Amino acid sequence: MKAAVLNAFGAPLVLSDLPDPVLGSGEVIVDMLAAGVASYTAGVLSGARNYVLELPIVPGPGGIGRVRAAGPDATRLKVGDLVYCDATIRARDAVHAPDAILLGWTARTPAAMPLHRAYHHGSFAQRVRVPTENVTPLGDLDPGEIGRWAALGRLLVPFGGLLAGELKAGETLVVSGATGGFGAAGVMVALAMGAGRIVATGRNAASLADLARRHGPRVIPAAMTGDEARDRALIAACAAGPVDMVLDFLPREATASQVRAAAMTVRGGGRVVLMGGVRGETGDLALNYNWLMHNNITVRGQWMYDREAVPRLVQMVRAGLIDLTGFDLAEFPLDAAQEAVDFAAVHAGPHQLTVLRPDRLG
Ligand SMILES: NC(=O)c1ccc[n+]([C@@H]2O[C@H](COP(=O)([O-])OP(=O)(O)OC[C@H]3O[C@@H](n4cnc5c(N)ncnc54)[C@H](OP(=O)(O)O)[C@@H]3O)[C@@H](O)[C@H]2O)c1
Repeated sequence: MKAAVLNAFGAPLVLSDLPDPVLGSGEVIVDMLAAGVASYTAGVLSGARNYVLELPIVPGPGGIGRVRAAGPDATRLKVGDLVYCDATIRARDAVHAPDAILLGWTARTPAAMPLHRAYHHGSFAQRVRVPTENVTPLGDLDPGEIGRWAALGRLLVPFGGLLAGELKAGETLVVSGATGGFGAAGVMVALAMGAGRIVATGRNAASLADLARRHGPRVIPAAMTGDEARDRALIAACAAGPVDMVLDFLPREATASQVRAAAMTVRGGGRVVLMGGVRGETGDLALNYNWLMHNNITVRGQWMYDREAVPRLVQMVRAGLIDLTGFDLAEFPLDAAQEAVDFAAVHAGPHQLTVLRPDRLG
C-alpha cells in the first residue's frame, strides 16, 4: 500500500510503499477515504509538541474508510461498510484504567508503548488496521460528502466532555476557548444537545462575533481581558442566570487564572469539565476548598471520550442536528500529504477542515 511516512522529526512526509496490514482476530482492515489533518499536525511531526512517537510512522489519527476485511469475531460488520475509525485505542488488560494511545499520533505514556508498537501506523495511508471496537458504521453517505465526515474526529472530543459533564437540554454552558478548533466544535455539539445558552469566551472579539453570527442567539460572545475578576463578572452577566456547566478548552499557553475566571461562575451543584492544555505550574488551579465544598461543585478532567460517544455522534449528524456543511473543506490527495499539513497550519480557523484523501493520488 501507499502511505505518507514520517522518518524523522522535522523531515517532510514521504510517500512510500509499505506492506499491507495483516488482519488478526479482533481487528478490522479499513481502506481509508478521508483523514482529518489538524492545524497543529506540523507541531506533532516536527517534534515541537513532544508527542511520544516511535519512528518511522504513518501519522494520522483515524478518519473515514470502508471495511476491507473483518476478523472472525465481528458479528455485524460487512466488507464494504463505510465506517469511522476512531484513533483512541485502549489496552484490554486494565479495565478500570486502561493505558491508551491515539493511533498514528501519540503513545502518550511509556506504559502504553506496547500498544503503540502493536497498533502503530495511522490513517495517512491507503489501509489501516484497528481493533474491531474502533470502527463505527456510518450507513450510506453521498460520495461527495465523505470528506466532511472527517469532522467527526474534531467534534467527538468536546462531545466527550459534554457527556462527562452531563449537559442537559436548556442548560447554560460556558465554553472557555470557544473560538479554538475544539472549543468551536464544542459549541456546535452543545447546541445540538439542546444547550439553552452558551457563553463563548476568547480574547479576540472579531472571532467571537463570527462564532455568534454563525450560530445565532443562543451563543453569547464574551471577550476576555485577562483580568480575572472582570472576566468572571462579564461571563456571569452574559449568562444572565445560573451557569450549569463550564467546558474548558484553553490551550497550553493559557493560565490558571483564565481557567478560574470561567470555572468559578458555576452555580451551586454545577459542573466544570477540563479538557484543555493548561500545564506546568500555571496549571495548578487553586480552586478554593470552601467554595467547592459548600457549593457541591464537580470539577473533572476529561481526555477524549467513551466509545459509546462515537455512534451517538454519528446519529446526531445523520439526524441533521449537526450540519457538517458548517466546515470549510479543503481536500488533498495522499501524495500531497505534506502540502495538506502545511495548508492546515495556516488555515487554522475553527471552521476550517483540512482532509487528506488516501483514496486519491495526484
Ligand atoms: N482533553 C482532550 O482529549 C483533548 C483533545 C484534543 C485537544 N485538547 C487540548 O485542547 C486545547 C485546545 O486545542 P485547540 O486546537 O482548540 O486550540 P486553539 O485552536 O489554539 O484554540 C485556543 C482557544 O483558546 C483561546 N485562548 C485563550 N487564551 C489563550 C492564550 N493565552 N493563548 C492562546 N489561545 C488562548 C483562543 O482564542 P483567543 O486567542 O482569541 O483568546 C481559542 O479560542 C489544547 O491544549 C489541546 O491540547 C484536549
